Amino acid sequence: MVLQHGNTRVHIVLDSNTTDVHSEIVISSKPHGGASIIDAAAPETAARGSFAADVIAGLSARRKQLPPKYFYDAVGSRLFEEICRTQEYYVTRSETNLLANVAAEVAAGIPKGAALVELGSGASAKTRLLLDAAPQLSAYVPIDISAAALHEASGGLARDYPQLNVAPVAADFTGHYRLPAAADGRARIGFFPGSTVGNFDRDGAVRILRSVRQVLGIHAALLVGVDLIKDPATLIAAYDDSLGVTARFNKNLLTRINRELGGDFDVDSFDHLALWNDARSRMEMHLVSRKDQIVNAAGNTFAFRRGERLHTESSHKFTAVMFARLAAEAGWSTNKIWISEAPQVALFRLG
Ligand code: TRP
Repeated sequence: MVLQHGNTRVHIVLDSNTTDVHSEIVISSKPHGGASIIDAAAPETAARGSFAADVIAGLSARRKQLPPKYFYDAVGSRLFEEICRTQEYYVTRSETNLLANVAAEVAAGIPKGAALVELGSGASAKTRLLLDAAPQLSAYVPIDISAAALHEASGGLARDYPQLNVAPVAADFTGHYRLPAAADGRARIGFFPGSTVGNFDRDGAVRILRSVRQVLGIHAALLVGVDLIKDPATLIAAYDDSLGVTARFNKNLLTRINRELGGDFDVDSFDHLALWNDARSRMEMHLVSRKDQIVNAAGNTFAFRRGERLHTESSHKFTAVMFARLAAEAGWSTNKIWISEAPQVALFRLG
């Protein structure tokens, strides 16, 4: 189907067997305006000061919360890979299938000698589909907050793609980062899969999309993976799998605080909670205190009441229209939207 609004034309392609789509799609506005790891002082160490500051601020707040980026230490990155293999977590599976089906079409739009820049690359598993389909890519710049995950992924890629200049950057992409020399003078294609953009509130997501547009430079293209609104039972199961992997992932944040910030959290006295917040169109992950308790961490003391929640993560879900609007706010035009088979996720090509 093709949607037309003013001079904006958006092709929406449904993957085979896909029947329903939440999309009376109208794009309302044109955008305004138009091998060695860089940062050897890995963020895992370099950012300790801000980890402590964020923990103190987050646990002192009236509604306790922590930024989700701290999930991704070496253990957390590995647990996340395990989440991706659970029965219930469909996001990775749907997106990988969709990407496999559209990779050739995406690749056809990638110029010779271009650099692929990925935000939150983790194990770079999906990236291989693009690399296989687009041998004209000369450089790959994976950006991830976990130096451990980055090392492991980059080694494997450099081995399997000998023609490719793999130039990993250990950085927090919500902050300032620079592209390595490997991307200099090359067309740049951004890749931001996994519904990671959904882990930020609206302002945060707009800020990141705007910043990646600036980092990629003019004529940039960005392929973003977004999760679509669907029935709450499917959503909740995806963030509360029956093997308890997601619960372990969530609680690993407390273990990390214990280890890195001298905390004394009794991890077993917190429960994992996943809930659908319909008003804000997002899944929320919390850790719920099983009892009244006092916890020390980062040189401070924090009181938890029984039943009190620590909000650790949100994962926003969109309709195609909602996300196209958000992208437009960050200066991007939506060129094309591909939608997977159910459970549905979308890939947006922005330009
Ligand atoms: N980007 C992923 C998502 O929002 C991250 C994620 C998946 C996640 N499962 C999680 C984060 C569980 C915290 C807890 O789907």
